[in-house]
Amino acid sequence: MDRSMSRIRDHSLLLVLVIIVFSISPFVSSSRSRTDGVIVKQSDFQALRAIKNELIDFRGILKSWNDSGLGACGGGWLGIKCVNGEVIAIQLPWKGLGGRISEKIGQLRALRKISLHDNVIGGVVPTSLILLPNLRGVYLFNNRLSGSIPPSIGRRSPVLQTLDLSNNQLTGTVSPNLANSARLYRLNLSYNALSGSIPVSLTRSSSLTFLALEHNNLSGFIPDTWGGMVSMNKSYQLQYLTLDHNRLSGKIPASISKLSMLEEINLSDNRINGTIPDELGGLSRLTVLDLSNNLIDGAIPASFSNLSALGTLVLKSNLLDNQIPEDIDRLKNLSMLDLSNNKFVGRIPATIGNISGLASLDLSENNFTGEIPNSLVSLENLTSLDVSYNNLSGIVPSLLSKMFNSSAFVGNLELCGYSPSTQCASPPPQTLPSPVSGVVKPRHRKLSTKDIILIVSGALLVVLLLLCCMLLCCLIRKKANSKAKNGSKASGLATTAGRGAKAVPEVGGTEVESGEAGGKLVHFDGPFVFAADDLLCATAEIMGKSTYGTAYKATLEDGNQVAVKRLREKITKGQKEFEAEVAELGKIRHPNILALRAYYLGPKGEKLLVYDYMPNGSLSSFLHARGPETTIDWPTRMRIAIGITKGICFLHTKENIIHGNLTSSNILLDEQNNPKIADVGLSRLMTTAGNTNVIATAGTLGYRAPELSKIKNASTKTDVYSLGVIILELLTGKSPSEATDGLDLPQWVASIVKEEWTNEVFDVELMRDAPNIGDELLNTLKLALHCVDPTPTARPEAPQVLQKLEEIKPELMLAATSSGDDGTAVQEKSE
Ligand SMILES: *[C@@H]1O[C@H](CO)[C@@H](O)[C@H](O)[C@H]1NC(C)=O
Ligand SMILES: *[C@@H]1O[C@H](CO)[C@@H](O)[C@H](O)[C@H]1NC(C)=O
Ligand SMILES: *[C@@H]1O[C@H](CO)[C@@H](O)[C@H](O)[C@H]1NC(C)=O
Ligand SMILES: *[C@@H]1O[C@H](CO)[C@@H](O)[C@H](O)[C@H]1NC(C)=O
Ligand SMILES: *[C@@H]1O[C@H](CO)[C@@H](O)[C@H](O)[C@H]1NC(C)=O
Ligand SMILES: *[C@@H]1O[C@H](CO)[C@@H](O)[C@H](O)[C@H]1NC(C)=O
Ligand SMILES: *[C@@H]1O[C@H](CO)[C@@H](O)[C@H](O)[C@H]1NC(C)=O
Ligand SMILES: *[C@@H]1O[C@H](CO)[C@@H](O)[C@H](O)[C@H]1NC(C)=O
Ligand SMILES: *[C@@H]1O[C@H](CO)[C@@H](O)[C@H](O)[C@H]1NC(C)=O
Ligand SMILES: *[C@@H]1O[C@H](CO)[C@@H](O)[C@H](O)[C@H]1NC(C)=O
Ligand SMILES: *[C@@H]1O[C@H](CO)[C@@H](O)[C@H](O)[C@H]1NC(C)=O
Ligand SMILES: *[C@@H]1O[C@H](CO)[C@@H](O)[C@H](O)[C@H]1NC(C)=O
Repeated sequence: MDRSMSRIRDHSLLLVLVIIVFSISPFVSSSRSRTDGVIVKQSDFQALRAIKNELIDFRGILKSWNDSGLGACGGGWLGIKCVNGEVIAIQLPWKGLGGRISEKIGQLRALRKISLHDNVIGGVVPTSLILLPNLRGVYLFNNRLSGSIPPSIGRRSPVLQTLDLSNNQLTGTVSPNLANSARLYRLNLSYNALSGSIPVSLTRSSSLTFLALEHNNLSGFIPDTWGGMVSMNKSYQLQYLTLDHNRLSGKIPASISKLSMLEEINLSDNRINGTIPDELGGLSRLTVLDLSNNLIDGAIPASFSNLSALGTLVLKSNLLDNQIPEDIDRLKNLSMLDLSNNKFVGRIPATIGNISGLASLDLSENNFTGEIPNSLVSLENLTSLDVSYNNLSGIVPSLLSKMFNSSAFVGNLELCGYSPSTQCASPPPQTLPSPVSGVVKPRHRKLSTKDIILIVSGALLVVLLLLCCMLLCCLIRKKANSKAKNGSKASGLATTAGRGAKAVPEVGGTEVESGEAGGKLVHFDGPFVFAADDLLCATAEIMGKSTYGTAYKATLEDGNQVAVKRLREKITKGQKEFEAEVAELGKIRHPNILALRAYYLGPKGEKLLVYDYMPNGSLSSFLHARGPETTIDWPTRMRIAIGITKGICFLHTKENIIHGNLTSSNILLDEQNNPKIADVGLSRLMTTAGNTNVIATAGTLGYRAPELSKIKNASTKTDVYSLGVIILELLTGKSPSEATDGLDLPQWVASIVKEEWTNEVFDVELMRDAPNIGDELLNTLKLALHCVDPTPTARPEAPQVLQKLEEIKPELMLAATSSGDDGTAVQEKSE
């Protein structure tokens, strides 16, 4: 929710770029019409001057709004966007502006968007906004506006889509007129001091998708008119309803259940009473329900077992009673359950142990009886548990008492075994075998078939191991001889891995007597079969070095080639952690991710990772180290961009892995030039210090998101930034490491775009095809600039990037982008 929210909110930034790109694009408008646009309408010019006069420009950012006026619509005036000499957008967020907004703003008749959020603007919301028939978006949140919202706003704004006045000091009531626009999409009046009740008209809006009225002083009942008339066959769009921290009273309206798109309801911290309506169980998309800190009584409705998408259920501090429904485990997606401080009775259902993703369970301060079910032990993701202050009895399952400290269990007089002072009378019977002790314990009973099999296979293993050792010794002796005969151009990996007698100095191998055994090779699924010795004795050439270590191309005895990465020992994790992590990485399989096929742990702690070998090298060399005759056409570049994005999407959404070091050198190409992302998950194998190093290096290469210079934590957003740089690299043919005029690649591109020479940024060889692919280039550029937005929250997530790229892809001549934003951008295009 948070993420999508900020995405929506920060779209204004993207829009600035979109608008700039569109208005100056060589493919869209000629320089002729640009000159026409400079002549600003006289009344608009006057209005802008009045606006400047009433704002306090602490940082001098409105210098460009000078008296000549000629530049107002030519792109010279910061934050102003025009069409045909009329101002259509004022966008000056985060500019430290104070003062107030002039009523003269009503004179800008063509105005569609006003974005002045995150400033320190005081005064009132100008009443003259009602004069603007084209107004679509009003973003004035995070300011110091006071007074009431002019009641007639919305009355004559048929196309108003977004009104965000949140986090100001507004008083007065919420006007029913706000719902007049049939296109109202987001209404955020949260964090003000609004009073009165919630207008019925808002509950009937079929376009409203986000309604945020939290943290106000609203009172009265919540209207029971959601979803409008039953007879009307409309679909209602509301997804987020946040009314928490008000003084609302009365029952939870059952009509909320008509809002079939609802994903999040937060009614916490009000004075709501009565029971929870059974109908809420029909909200199949609901993921968050927070009703905490109210006066709600009765039981959890049986229908709740139908809320299969629910991830968070917070009912704490109410007057709820009765038992937890036994089929609570039908809430398959539940990760947080908080029922604390109510009057629940009965036993804690053992079925809770079936909700495998449960991470946080709070049942404290109720009247639960009986034992803590053993099944809770199987909740592998449970990180927070509180059952304190109930009437529980019996023995705390030993794993739980190890994982959670005694405060989670106190206040249950008959509960024992969770702290030294609450020893149980007789030692607890061990019901579940501890998951780590897989060893067969000596027992005084007859051996079962299973035991016998185990013992026999164990013995066999020992024999096999002995045989292997002998074989290895022979082989190594043989190889050592043949190596001595070989030239010095290619060296055996054994040497680089520190096992040979002649260590290669640049890898800093420690000298070890040759012939020493004791390494460990672990294979993941893949086409190659080789033994540790095959690998160590393979002919190896250094391909490159990075902060993580050195990469080699290794040719095995049988002619097969693999890529081997020798990790720097100093910055890798200890063996146990390393093995656990690398086992996970070995499972990752995706067409755009370089597959990890095996790893080798040497007796001295050397660590080698074995990957598929990619004959066409890295994207970086493909792009920047080719001869002047070789051209790379647009479809190829686009295919590479899409492939990389698919890989990143997969990592982010399916594997929960942040790459953290995405560069064009880390993108390898197979025979068909399909991209494969390398170094996936390596950060998980590294110590914190190691990762800090990597981030620092990425900085010098030009792929590092700006925020990483302060916070050292890579995130999906920093990956998307790097992805954006790579797309820019594909578009411009420029390497991010070659600084241009002291700017990094994103800054350079942005500066050119700003200077209205958009076609200058593209790789010359792409421009030959410009008449055919202009739109695609432009849309891709727009997307890449979105990805490298300096504000992390404004960047899209990888799946959105993928979606956009697929919309742009060469097969389609016209790009149809329309999702996500508040619609302003789309309309810009159609006019
Ligand atoms: C007004 O501002 C524009 C753009 O910043 C600048 O080019 C122009 O010289 C300025 N004119 C005056 C009179 O200051
Ligand atoms: C509403 O505004 C608040 C405060 O500015 C913000 O935290 C919240 O995410 C916004 N919600 C929506 C739905 O826009
Ligand atoms: C909230 O509204 C009530 C009247 O409904 C008023 O008495 C109270 O002062 C208001 N509180 C705040 C913090 O504005
Ligand atoms: C109402 O919706 C149903 C199902 O969504 C549909 O089959 C029916 O045609 C709709 N009726 C009208 C009048 O739109
Ligand atoms: C509901 O709103 C409250 C107050 O704004 C917040 O603390 C809480 O986290 C929200 N609940 C959920 C589940 O997001
Ligand atoms: C709920 O609260 C309202 C007003 O606060 C009161 O009139 C009503 O009787 C209460 N209902 C119940 C069931 O307590
Ligand atoms: C859950 O949904 C199904 C199908 O819509 C319905 O038949 C059933 O009655 C619901 N269960 C409860 C307990 O409401
Ligand atoms: C499960 O819950 C999470 C939030 O807790 C949500 O993002 C996700 O979409 C839900 N999954 C399903 C299948 O609804
Ligand atoms: C749910 O848990 C109960 C008790 O722990 C168990 O008997 C039952 O088999 C489980 N059901 C499923 C579907 O896992
Ligand atoms: C436990 O959490 C991890 C990380 O959030 C997740 O990938 C995994 O699927 C969860 N396990 C279960 C059983 O839900
Ligand atoms: C807990 O339940 C018992 C038996 O139902 C009852 O006597 C007692 O008052 C309850 N205690 C609380 C604090 O609700
Ligand atoms: C606590 O539970 C025991 C039975 O386990 C019962 O005898 C006792 O009355 C309960 N006490 C309270 C205060 O509910």
